[in-house]
Parts: sequence; C-alpha cells; structure tokens
Amino acid sequence: MQKAKAYAAASATTPLAETTIARREPTEHDVHIEILYCGICHSDLHLVRNEWSSVMPAVYPVVPGHEIVGRVTRTGSAVKKLKPGDLAGVGCMVDSDRTCPECQAGLEQFCASMVLTYNSPDKHLGGVTYGGYSEAIVVDESFVLRVPSNLSLAGAAPLLCAGITTYSPMRHWAVGTGKKVGVVGIGGLGHMAVKFADALGAHVVVFTTSPSKVDDALRLGADEVVISRDSAAMGKHAGSFDFILDAVSAEHDINTYLMLLRRDGNMTLVGAPEKPMAVGSFPLIFGRRSLSGSLIGGIAETQEMLDFCGAHSITADVEVIPIQKVNEAYERLVRSDVKYRFSIDMASLKAE
Ligand SMILES: NC(=O)c1ccc[n+]([C@@H]2O[C@H](COP(=O)([O-])OP(=O)(O)OC[C@H]3O[C@@H](n4cnc5c(N)ncnc54)[C@H](OP(=O)(O)O)[C@@H]3O)[C@@H](O)[C@H]2O)c1
Ligand SMILES: [Zn+2]
Ligand SMILES: [Zn+2]
Repeated sequence: MQKAKAYAAASATTPLAETTIARREPTEHDVHIEILYCGICHSDLHLVRNEWSSVMPAVYPVVPGHEIVGRVTRTGSAVKKLKPGDLAGVGCMVDSDRTCPECQAGLEQFCASMVLTYNSPDKHLGGVTYGGYSEAIVVDESFVLRVPSNLSLAGAAPLLCAGITTYSPMRHWAVGTGKKVGVVGIGGLGHMAVKFADALGAHVVVFTTSPSKVDDALRLGADEVVISRDSAAMGKHAGSFDFILDAVSAEHDINTYLMLLRRDGNMTLVGAPEKPMAVGSFPLIFGRRSLSGSLIGGIAETQEMLDFCGAHSITADVEVIPIQKVNEAYERLVRSDVKYRFSIDMASLKAE
C-alpha cells in the first residue's frame, strides 16, 4: 500500500480539503499513473453534495474526479497496453465483471458489477474507490485509455467524461451530414457536444439560457444559437430536429424541446438533475417522438472517441486552476460560470 495526496469532501456541506489516501500496490494487471490534470465534472459536485442520495448515496470522505490524464509511472508484469512514460487516461469506470452480456457487448457502463472511479466499493482495499483529485491512481489496464500525444493534456482530460458522454449518444443516434441536431446547455458536456456534432457534419443549433455564450457557441461550431427563454425564437424550430442532446444539470422544461423534434426524432438526456422532470404524453404521441437517456460510453468507444479527437484536434476549452481553487470552482459551476470546463493542474497538489 502507498500513500497519495488528494482532495476530499468530508460531508455534503464541508468544502473539499487536502487529505492523504491509500492506493494499492499495482497487481500484475495494474497501471500506476501520476495524475497531471483532472477535469471538474458537474457529477463531482452532485455527488459531493449528495444530490443523488436516492440512487447513489455519497460515502464520505469523497475524493471526486473522473476526467483523469496522467503519465504511467509503473506497470504490473502482465500489462501489455501501456509502459512507463506513456500518457494515460482514466474516465468514470475502473472495473467491471467482464463476463456479462453488457461487458461482452463492450458496454461496460451498463454492467451490474461496474466499479465507478469514485464512490464504488473498492474490492482491493475495502471502503470505496477514490477518484482523480489526487496525485496518483492505480487502475487495471483494461480500464486505462491511450491519450493521443498531439492533444493538450489539460484540454484532453475532460474528454474522459464530457467527451465520451456526448460522443456516444451521437454515434448511437447516427448524427452526421444532413441531420439537424440541437444541443441544450452549454457547459462542460454541451460544449463538447457542439464540437462533435459539428465534426460529424450535422447542422448544429445551440439552446442556451446564457446570452453571454452566443458568440462562443458559434465559435465552437454551432450554425445557429437560440436563447431558450425566448419562446418566439424557440417556436421557429418546431418539428424540425432529428436529434436533441440535453446536457442540463438542473430542472427545466423538457417538453418544450420535445416539441422541436420532427417525426420519429429523438431527444436524449445526459444531464442528471437532482429532481425528476415532468414529461407530457402529447409531445411524444404526436410525431412518434422518443425520449431516452445515455450513460458515458464503453471502453472501446471511449478509445474510439479519443482517437477521433486526436485525428480532428478536438479538446475541451478549459480554464486551468490549481486544486486550491476547487471550492471556488464548484460555486462557479452552480452559476453556469465556466468556459467551458475547469481542469485542475495537479502539480499544484504536489507543491502543497
Ligand atoms: N449521463 C452521463 O453519463 C453523464 C456524464 C457526465 C455528466 N452528466 C450530467 O450532465 C449534466 C451536465 O454536466 P456538466 O458537467 O456539463 O455541467 P455544467 O458544466 O455545469 O453545464 C450545465 C449547463 O446546463 C445549463 N443550465 C444550468 N442550470 C440550468 C437551469 N436551471 N436551466 C436551464 N439550463 C441550465 C447551463 O448551460 P447554459 O448556460 O448554456 O444554459 C450550464 O452551463 C450534470 O447533471 C451531470 O451530472 C451525465
Ligand atoms: Zn462526469
Ligand atoms: Zn459485466
């Protein structure tokens, strides 16, 4: 067992603070990674504040962080995929049973035994797993991704969650040339969705509550931007979308967006607000529209997404912060005041 510096929340109401955690000695299949950058996902905040207590209660202390990029420092004797010195990425999962139909289909995120990067039972050390707000992590090589070397590391970290969570449903629903695609909420996930939809060749319309994000949305790849509080502007798009991705972190009216879908159009929710949202039958019945959800993506698809980003030079737009500013960053995340992802420079933790 080894010690690692980390930032943890001791309860739902206490600020994150420095602590020391245990990391296991690498087994023969494990990779030891020195963490260089870790993105701040809104899920980190939901979980730290126990906003998902009914489905995923927080077990304190919580060390969040599942947008991890680092460098391999050591590998177990059986590791083939990576060697010391390689860049490595870790997303939201660190293990699964690898035998169930979901795992066999490459959809480990739906495995009943999937182990989340933080707040899941830790079969090696007991207690729960600890995430990427830390100087190091030890992960089975099957759940470690290769990071293209041409990408900025601070901007690549958010690909491990925000990237795959938006790429996967777009691939599933065949976003591409000739499709009209909406993206609701321009935060960490939403801004990646715009980049992917644009790179895949779709006509992209952004829906935002923030007038200050209009110019950025166009720069990120949107063809049109609609202020979602403007009902006349919304109405102009009625019945016209093939696909809408909703990446909003708080309660909002999803029926308004369902009405914008064309016949057989789909709206997928990736946002996970604390409280349930009302769905009217009529927006679905008329036009045989569908509403669905999506959870991150499997390991093979995550690698595909990273390679796609390498080929198209896609990274997140990040504001790099030292870990000492994490609590301030959480407050700004609640106010939708981030353009468009915080990425923690983990050198700041080492220096502490
Ligand atoms: N399904 C999955 O696998 C998965 C993976 C990762 C995250 N998530 C979830 O996805 C959600 C988004 O995560 P994120 O990290 O992208 O969050 P984020 O950076 O905070 O972005 C959320 C965006 O939602 C919009 N928004 C916020 N409050 C709103 C409100 N009251 N009404 C309407 N719009 C509002 C804002 O966009 P505008 O300013 O443009 O309006 C904001 O920037 C979170 O709930 C997170 O837990 C799900
Ligand atoms: Zn996330
Ligand atoms: Zn499985």
